[in-house]
Parts: sequence; structure tokens; C-alpha cells
Amino acid sequence: MTHTLVRTETRGQVRVITVDNPPVNALSPGVPEGIAAAIDAVQSDPAIAAIVVTAAGRTFVAGADITTLEPLAWDPNAPKPELNSLLARVESSTKPVVMAIHGSALGGGLEMAMAAAYRVAVAGAKLGLPECALGIIPGAEGTQRLPRLAGVEKALNMVVTSRPVTAADALAHGIIDEIVEGDLVDGAVRFADRVAASGGPHPVTSARTDKLGTPAVNAPLFDAARTLARKVKPQQPAPLLAIDAIEAATRLPFAEGSKRETELFLEAVRTEPAKALIHVFFAERAVSKVPDLPKDVTPAPVRKVGIIGAGTMGGGIAMACTNAGLDVILQDASREGLDRGIDAIRRNYAVSVSRGRFTEEGVADRMARITPQLDLAGFETADVIIEAVFEDMALKERVFADMDRVARPGAVLATNTSTLDIDRIAAATSRPGDVVGLHFFSPANVMRLLEIVRGTGTSHQTLATALGLARTLNKVGVVVGNGPGFVGNRMMFPYMYETQYMVEEGATPAEVDAALTGFGMAMGMFAVDDMAGIDVAIRVQQALGHFSDPSERRPLVQPALVEAGRLGQKTGKGWYQYGDDRKPRVDPEVVALIRAKANEAGIPQRAFTPSEIVERAIYALINEGARALELGLALRASDIDTIYVNGYGFPAWRGGPLFYADRVGLARIHARVSEFHAQFGARWTPAPLLERLAREGGTFRGLDRQ
Ligand code: 3HC
Ligand code: NAI
Repeated sequence: MTHTLVRTETRGQVRVITVDNPPVNALSPGVPEGIAAAIDAVQSDPAIAAIVVTAAGRTFVAGADITTLEPLAWDPNAPKPELNSLLARVESSTKPVVMAIHGSALGGGLEMAMAAAYRVAVAGAKLGLPECALGIIPGAEGTQRLPRLAGVEKALNMVVTSRPVTAADALAHGIIDEIVEGDLVDGAVRFADRVAASGGPHPVTSARTDKLGTPAVNAPLFDAARTLARKVKPQQPAPLLAIDAIEAATRLPFAEGSKRETELFLEAVRTEPAKALIHVFFAERAVSKVPDLPKDVTPAPVRKVGIIGAGTMGGGIAMACTNAGLDVILQDASREGLDRGIDAIRRNYAVSVSRGRFTEEGVADRMARITPQLDLAGFETADVIIEAVFEDMALKERVFADMDRVARPGAVLATNTSTLDIDRIAAATSRPGDVVGLHFFSPANVMRLLEIVRGTGTSHQTLATALGLARTLNKVGVVVGNGPGFVGNRMMFPYMYETQYMVEEGATPAEVDAALTGFGMAMGMFAVDDMAGIDVAIRVQQALGHFSDPSERRPLVQPALVEAGRLGQKTGKGWYQYGDDRKPRVDPEVVALIRAKANEAGIPQRAFTPSEIVERAIYALINEGARALELGLALRASDIDTIYVNGYGFPAWRGGPLFYADRVGLARIHARVSEFHAQFGARWTPAPLLERLAREGGTFRGLDRQ
């Protein structure tokens, strides 16, 4: 039996059209046609006075179907999904159309809604035009109708930031007409009866001009929007193109403005950032699909989390859990450690309150759900226990033996280790099936990435629950294998070493960081090292067993900085020096130290160009990524991209390191890696997978699609 994408029913004199295209009611083929046909069917029906359009399941229409937009990004001849004729049908309906919105009305969903005479929504609804987050612009007249409903300034802000607004905000700005209490469809039908009884005339959005302003009033708004676009989405053409389209709305009649929007849409969708950002959208959603995880294994419910160790990570994880509404028992072995941990949480929340992110009551509620304690009393009631004590195998083995003793059967036993072998930790328990790595990133309450480390014994149930927990915590949980450094850190170190070798060869930390941020990295590697702590980086590299071969080249400056007590931001000095504003400033002392060390080691000095810096740093990342993929540490190339975009500040608009490699061309990357290999030796040995793909003309993306 085929599923009906659009169904209808009649309530009194109102025809209710329900879109039913799970999971998010996207406007996939068949849906626009179904809605249009249902509208057509009642145009001359005297028994019908008004139409309500609503959607089944968890949300209103969340947009055009991105799977049908993606081909456009890659193939200039692919057909553009045609939505404008549906919008014309909605707008020209002889019976007033009321859109009834719950969940999210996004992109094409909001564009369709704006074509109707009226919109009502439940209080929890979100409305937005997030297309720029996908590297495209609204392509179904959203840039033309939103400024007509909400005014130019609001439209610019919504489109440039891509952020949806609440129902209350939408009401205040005229995007919707009413917030419905109680049942949405009942409320929408009542609203429809009312407007039908009023006899009209009913508003026609495209005919409105009252909020479009004048060129003189609008000029500073467009200037401000362009400045905002360059700031929030640097190096991305889409927001600037969207602003052009909104400007067209203010200068051209509707039909011409709409034509201009289509041209700009086609220009945006064919850019590299559109390809990359659409890739990132699907990559982030692919991570929860673990091929060998049976469909009938579903996450166990998690309500209470026990955390052992109240340090930097334990405290951050506690905040992530309580922010998600979970109860937390936070244990530390020392009174001092526990007090320090709770203080840090309090301070952190005070900052959130002062920035208006949380209310006092919200924080009080969160704090009330964290129980600090020095023993493991009550841990038998936890659904998940996460260990975050010092990075020491013998200690972790002892802690896991304790966890094994107290945890209820079936509870997940997780470790936040960043370097240790999960299997050895699991062997300290009588239930290795319940053991998994949950590698959070610092600050754990902020960073979206969570590496879910699968040990040899980790059961399907444990993995499913870990994936479910990631979702509950609003994190992107990526399943990785149990190898040294897992995936993220494994790749980061070769990248980090290369940046250090370049400064030893004549570049400066500031030059390297500027090249990397110019490429789009959120921070330069040296600034990151200072933030994380240079001593920490050295401890991790030792734990990972790097440089055990004495003939290998090793960084010269990093250990010297630690010896000099320059540990990074926490000591006010590292690769850079820091004032109260915590902004890195060039320190001539460090540059002198670098030159002295290089001189001592007889390293010839030369100048570097930004593109050479980027190649050496980023290609090191790519080569190690290829290795991690080949070793099966990541399930797919796009998982590696997701890890780097969400955990390491890699620019989403470049799609992640392996997507970027595809776009540069694997033959070119391989050729450069081979040159570096010839020049620098073993550390640049091309990954066999990179070599093979380059030879065969393949891509990482192609590999994922096999
Ligand atoms: N098209 C196709 N598939 C979509 C989709 C869309 N617009 N939005 C979501 N999906 C898919 C996801 O890929 C995922 O598939 P999977 O189950 O196979 O992995 C599934 O729907 C569920 O998505 P989420 O896991 O993201 O579900 P959430 O409940 O967490 O979030 C949401 C729901 C807020 C609607 C979120 O999915 C979202 O933000 N979607 C994208 C919205 C968007 O960008 N819309 C604009 C599209 S472009 C457009 O409309 C162009 C127009 O101007 C012409
Ligand atoms: P930390 O030193 O800030 O905190 C460790 C806490 O554990 C201290 O409060 C200590 O008192 C407590 N502790 C020690 N032994 C204990 C025991 N037997 N029982 C209960 N509590 C005990 O350390 P941090 O940075 O939070 O790291 C914790 C773990 O997280 C380590 O395994 C580390 O490798 C890992 N990690 C750290 C990251 C970071 O950026 N700091 C990132 C990802 C993982």
C-alpha cells in the first residue's frame, strides 16, 4: 500500500489538509502536488469556506527536501525543485488559507506558510529561513515575502543568522497572526471559521508593500546586514546573495523580485560552500547509523547519570547532563576536588546568567539536580556512570572495579579517557559489554562533539544507549574505534607537529595561526595549544607513545616552553603572551627562543607563504584521516568530517578535512604528500588509502556511497 503524503478531512465548513511525510514533512516530490490538488479541489465547492493546512507528526513542514536540492549543487543541469507554482495556488485560493504550525516551519515550509492569507502556531513553534546555514538562499520566494510580513530589518536578521524565531517573536513581527492555546488544528479551524465569517478581503502577502521601507531608510539596514554576514559567515557567499535578494524585494515588483531570487538561488547552490554545508548536514545525521547495530536494539532510557571525578571534565559533563534535564550524582575522592568542581560549575552558570543565557531559576533548578558527594552512595540508581578521574590506567582500573561493584545490572559504564585502552579498562570489570568510551571535549558543556569509543566487548545495547545519550545531551555522537587517540586526537597530533616544525624552519606562530584562520579554522594551532595547556599536550603525546623512535624528528620548542613555565593561557604565557582580555599577543621572547633552538639544531631558516603553511598543516591532517579510515577507526569518511567540524573548529563551509581533500583533488593531495615524504621522511608516508584513491581517481565521498 502506498503512503498518502497529503490527506484531507472536512470539519464543518473548513477543509483540513494534512501533510504526512515523515520524519519532518519535507516538501518531497508528491507533497507540493498533493497540497495544490487538495486546494484546487475545494475552489468551487460551496460547502467549504476556508482551508487549514497542517502537518502530522512532530513538526510542520521543515523545508524543501534537501536530498532533492543536493543534486543542484553538483550538476548545473539538475532540475530545480519547483515550489513557486504551489505558492501561487496557496496565495490565489478563493477560500482563505490558514497555515497551522507546530514544531518547526523552516525554509520551504515557512515560505509556503507565508504565501497563505493567515498563519497560526502553537507557543512552542519555531519559524525560520535557515537556508544560508546550508550555503544556499531561500529559493521559494522567502526573500520576497518575509520582508513584506516582518519588515526589512527582521527579515535580514533571520536570513543572515539562519536562526529560527519563537512563535511569540513571530507574532510580534507579523509573521504569524495568532498563537493557539490547546489543540492546534481545533484552534486553526476556529480561526478559519472566524476569518471566513468576516467575509474578507483576506491579506495577500505578495501584494503588500507597507513594510518594505524606502531606499534611504533601508540603506543602513543593508549595510549593517552585509557587515553582520561577513562577521558571522566569513568567506561564505550565501548570506550576501540572500541580502541582494531581499534588496530586490524592496526595489522590484514581486514577480521580478522573485525571478531575481531564483537567479541568486541558483548562483548560491552551485558554490563550493553549498556543496560542503549540505554534505555536513547529512554527515551529522549519518553518524547515528551504525551498520551492524540491529534496528531492534533501542537506547535504554537515561534519567540519572553518576559521574566520578569532579575536575574540568567531570564538572563540564555534569553541566551538560543537568542542562539536558538529567539528574546527576557527582563524586570526587577529595573534598577539595569536589568543592573546586562545584565552585567551577557555579561560576560557569553565573556567567551564563549574566549573559542572559539562563535565568536564576533555571540555574537553581540545574544545581538542585546535581548531588555532590565523596562516596558512591546512590550510584546503584544511575543509568549511566561516567568516569573522569586522572588519566592513569591503574587508577582507572580501580575505579572501574568499584563501578562494577556498585552499578546496577545493565547500567552503562563509561570512561572519558583521551588516551587509554578501553579494552584494558573494561577488563577491570566483570561486564565488558557494558563498558564504552565517552570522549567529551573541553568545555564539555559547550562542545558538541562526543566520540563514542567502541571497545572489543562493547555490546550493541551499550552502543545504542550511548548514541541515545549523545542525542539527549544535544551532542553529535560519533562512533570511533579503540585506537591510540581514537580519531580526533590521532589526526590532530601530526597536524600540530607540522605547525611546530614550520616555526622551527622560519615561520612564526602568529604567521602559522593567521594562515590557518585565513583558511577558516576557528583558531590557529598555537592558540589552541595555549588554551588547552602545553603541558597537557605533551602528557597526551607521551601517553600515545609518540617519538619512541629516537631517530624521529621531534618538536624542540614545545618542551622548552614547558620548562620555562610557559604552559599557555593558564600561566599568562605560552606560544603567545596574554593580558586580562585573554587575547594572544606576539611575544618576542618566544620568537627568540624558537630561533635559538633552530640555530642550535642547525635547521635552515626560510620564509613561508600562507598557502604552503595550509598545505603542510592540513594535508598532515588529511593523510592521518585516511589512515584512521582505512584502519576502521571511523565508520565512514563523513564521520571524520563531522568530528573535525564539531570538535576541532574545522570550517563547516569547507565540509571537513576529507571532503575538502576531495575538492582539492586526491591526486593533487597525494602528489604533495609524496613530495613532503621525499623531503621530510617517514612521518609523511602517504596513507595507502589516499594512494589508492588517487590512483583510481576515487574520492572519500565516493567511498562512503559504495
Ligand atoms: N530535507 C530532507 N531531509 C530532511 C530535512 C529536509 N529539509 N530536514 C530533516 N531531514 C531528515 C534528516 O536528514 C534526518 O534523516 P535521517 O533520519 O535519515 O537521518 C531526519 O529528517 C530527521 O532529522 P533530524 O535528526 O535533524 O531531526 P530533529 O528532530 O533533530 O530536527 C529539524 C528536526 C529541526 C527539522 C531539523 O531536521 C532541521 O533543521 N532540518 C533542516 C531544516 C532546513 O534547513 N530547512 C531548509 C531546507 S532548504 C529549503 O527549504 C530551500 C527552499 O528555500 C527552496
Ligand atoms: P582533572 O585533574 O581536572 O580532574 C580529575 C578529578 O578526578 C580531580 O578532581 C580528582 O580529585 C578526581 N579524582 C582523582 N582520583 C579519583 C578517584 N579515585 N575517585 C574520584 N575522583 C577522583 O582532570 P580532567 O582534565 O577533568 O580529566 C579527567 C579525564 O578526562 C582524564 O581521563 C582526561 O584524560 C580526560 N579528558 C580530559 C580532557 C581535557 O581537556 N581536560 C578532554 C577529554 C578527556
